Amino acid sequence: MGDQELNRVLGGGAVPGGVVLLGGEPGIGKSTLMLQVALSVGRKNKILYISGEESAEQVRMRANRLGSISPEVLIFAQTQVPALLDALRQEQPDLVVVDSIQTLDLPDQDGVPGSVGQIRESAAALTAWAKTTGTPLFMVGHITKEGSLAGPKVLEHMVDVVLQFEGDRHHAYRMLRAAKNRFGTTAELGIYEMTGEGLSAVDHPSEVLLGERGSAESGAAIAVALQGVRPLLVEIQALVSTAVYGTPQRSGTGFDLRRLNMLLAVLEKRCAFKLAQFDVFLNVAGGLKIQDPANDLAVVAAILSSSLNLSLDNRTCFAGEVGLSGEIRPVPRMEQRMAEAARLGMERMLVSGHGKLPTPPRGLTLIPVQRVNEVQRVVF
Ligand code: TYD
Ligand code: MG
Repeated sequence: MGDQELNRVLGGGAVPGGVVLLGGEPGIGKSTLMLQVALSVGRKNKILYISGEESAEQVRMRANRLGSISPEVLIFAQTQVPALLDALRQEQPDLVVVDSIQTLDLPDQDGVPGSVGQIRESAAALTAWAKTTGTPLFMVGHITKEGSLAGPKVLEHMVDVVLQFEGDRHHAYRMLRAAKNRFGTTAELGIYEMTGEGLSAVDHPSEVLLGERGSAESGAAIAVALQGVRPLLVEIQALVSTAVYGTPQRSGTGFDLRRLNMLLAVLEKRCAFKLAQFDVFLNVAGGLKIQDPANDLAVVAAILSSSLNLSLDNRTCFAGEVGLSGEIRPVPRMEQRMAEAARLGMERMLVSGHGKLPTPPRGLTLIPVQRVNEVQRVVF
């Protein structure tokens, strides 16, 4: 398919008879992504885009803003499953998109469209068709803010691939990852930017993410994270302020709150950080959700930096996991991390001092630390 990010996350591209569920919050860009796929694949193949959310004319107008739509892309506004199956048999498309699964209506089935039974049975009928004819099928499913996959959840065991489209609606960046993948790994990640002309792949995410940086302010630390097999430099921002009310506030945007609380507890125990006296806000720049334990060290550095009101050197980056007893643990794939850090002009990288130190590329110096209480002395 024309979309390299999507191909990478799928582990190759669309597979004959492969059924993919694309989940995400409303407004995140699922329809945009699917339309772009239809437009790029539709130059050579017959695509059926089934929209239950917007009229065919609305979809066509939207598609025309995203790129020129070829006659090979058929747009049907249809929610009745039997009529839809008739259309599939008649048109014999090379690829089908159903947007969204919550709008489908199977007359024989109890419940309103969007109810669990309707979703399950409609999806089963379409999946059976895709498998018999060997046609790739993409189904869009909305999920709610709380991550409740209520509808789509019942489909997860039925489909081959479950993709999640994530991001902060107030930021332009979107991440596409596989929660399940029968055809490949779930470790890969696609990164897009939502622009006026739709979604564009971000080839060099580190540049973009670090490009948002201002001058060296206190509370900012650069983490060398890994997303899938791709290294990614990202700025972690912390704001530590005196708590006004009894219970200090904790919030983490793009970072797991439980992990943040754990790191704060370690800081209290090992670095005399007065946990109960401070509000702590943590933010991953760019609105990305990053799940790499290697970010711990940058989180710790950002928190120390903000609470001491001392800024960190902006050519210093961090990659290390923090354990409960305050030890800094080594993280995998150091070669890739170091290469990316050096490529972006980083000069120093704080890493775990446990085990054998890898050899950094030219221009980059590794600074080994064994415990969190060494971090402050080393960086300020
Ligand atoms: P959409 O694909 O409709 O989201 P979903 O199908 O997940 O509900 O996209 C929603 C947002 O994307 C909408 O608020 C407008 C924005 N957008 C752009 O910024 N640029 C574009 O080119 C398009 C098509 C949408
Ligand atoms: Mg939509």
